[in-house]
Amino acid sequence: MNVTVVGAGGHVGLPLSLVLAQAGHFVYGLDINTEVNAQVMAGQMPFIEEHADNLLKEVLATKRLQMTDRIDVIGRSDVVIIIIGTPIDENLNPRVDHLIKFIKAAKPYLKDQLIILRSTVSPGTTDAVRKALGDGDGDGDGDGKLDLVFGPERVLQGKSIEEIKSLPQIIGAYDERAYNRAAAFFNTFIESETHFLTPTEAELGKLITNMARYVEFALANEFHLICGQFGANAIRVIDAVNKDYPRLKLPVPGPNVGGPCLYKDGWYLVERVPYNEMISSAFRINEGMTMQILQQIEKRMPAGKVVVLGMAFKANNDDTRNSLAFKMRRQLQFKGYDVVCVDPRVPGHSPIEDISGADAVILMTPHREFKDLKAVLGHIDNPDCWLVDIWGLWPEMRHTSDNGYFQSHEVKQT
Ligand SMILES: NC(=O)c1ccc[n+]([C@@H]2O[C@H](COP(=O)([O-])OP(=O)(O)OC[C@H]3O[C@@H](n4cnc5c(N)ncnc54)[C@H](O)[C@@H]3O)[C@@H](O)[C@H]2O)c1
Repeated sequence: MNVTVVGAGGHVGLPLSLVLAQAGHFVYGLDINTEVNAQVMAGQMPFIEEHADNLLKEVLATKRLQMTDRIDVIGRSDVVIIIIGTPIDENLNPRVDHLIKFIKAAKPYLKDQLIILRSTVSPGTTDAVRKALGDGDGDGDGDGKLDLVFGPERVLQGKSIEEIKSLPQIIGAYDERAYNRAAAFFNTFIESETHFLTPTEAELGKLITNMARYVEFALANEFHLICGQFGANAIRVIDAVNKDYPRLKLPVPGPNVGGPCLYKDGWYLVERVPYNEMISSAFRINEGMTMQILQQIEKRMPAGKVVVLGMAFKANNDDTRNSLAFKMRRQLQFKGYDVVCVDPRVPGHSPIEDISGADAVILMTPHREFKDLKAVLGHIDNPDCWLVDIWGLWPEMRHTSDNGYFQSHEVKQT
């Protein structure tokens, strides 16, 4: 089939475009970012995504991917997948204006296509898209025209290429015809099942998928803070209670629970419900972790050089969107610390050698490059340097640190 992926230069759109082309479809990668379009056509991934570099080259050789900024390609497509960014505004409210603007611009080229809305959206957005498409369109009512479904992406960024194919696909459709048409399309490239929901149910389903993780991470973070009050090491407790116990899989705490999805998706869910304490409390806890770390640092050293280790929001990635490492930097700078930000994966930040002379190192992102504590210590000349690892990445101190805080001379041999 001819498939237009709208937002094909993005973190979700590009891996999806590659998988579709690999499966044999011809893909128009529609993106307004012409620089990214040129970069992709030149065979270069604009961001880190496992297995994508080789797949991009493979797909370009088949000539089944054409990046473009021309919206009229929609008129030559059987399927249109919309996966553009869906941000929240300055008051944390979901925005739909840019999505509706796109639908209106696309309308002259739409006739009988299957339209799959794939961006993460606030409940009711598919209805708004359906309305913007106009009467008789997008309702799958047998009039031979458009079919509109909501088919959320639930991959883990970094693992997209594998997970697009392996994860089950939720399809929110207004009727069976639209569902069957969408399911048949997904079955051309996924190996798993499809599930039929209404569009609003599917929107809610995507949001709770993300929020379940977000709340769980907040619980681990709150537990970390509680353990601190009792002089206990949270990870030591978590490891012990998780071990061989079938009903518990507590995650470890983490100072960088952010990113473009988890940061914003909860606000889509809570905006209309007055009793929404669980998700908004999780936001306060996760967003508050940097201040908690700052207070611990202040207790131990009132001034000096602090290294923020890792600026990306997740390990082994270069994506800095809504990374709390930037909040950590600002809060440290506000208190007058001399702050150096190290990230070998994010351009514009210091190399690991710049740890030298640090009085404290805060592990914000557990990149592969930071896993070997001995190697990290090799760059630190100060034996009293404070190391902060509330993730428990460094096994030498995972169970023996002061709840994630220790000095370099305390490192034990394992
Ligand atoms: N990043 C993830 O892991 C992830 C996972 C699942 C779902 N999502 C959701 O997917 C959506 C996209 O996220 P992303 O991380 O890929 O965002 P992104 O910012 O990386 O990509 C969006 C792309 O859309 C393009 N774009 C914007 N407006 C356009 C328009 N009118 N026409 C054509 N192209 C346009 C942008 O230039 C950009 O390349 C969001 O709703 C997000 O919440 C993201």
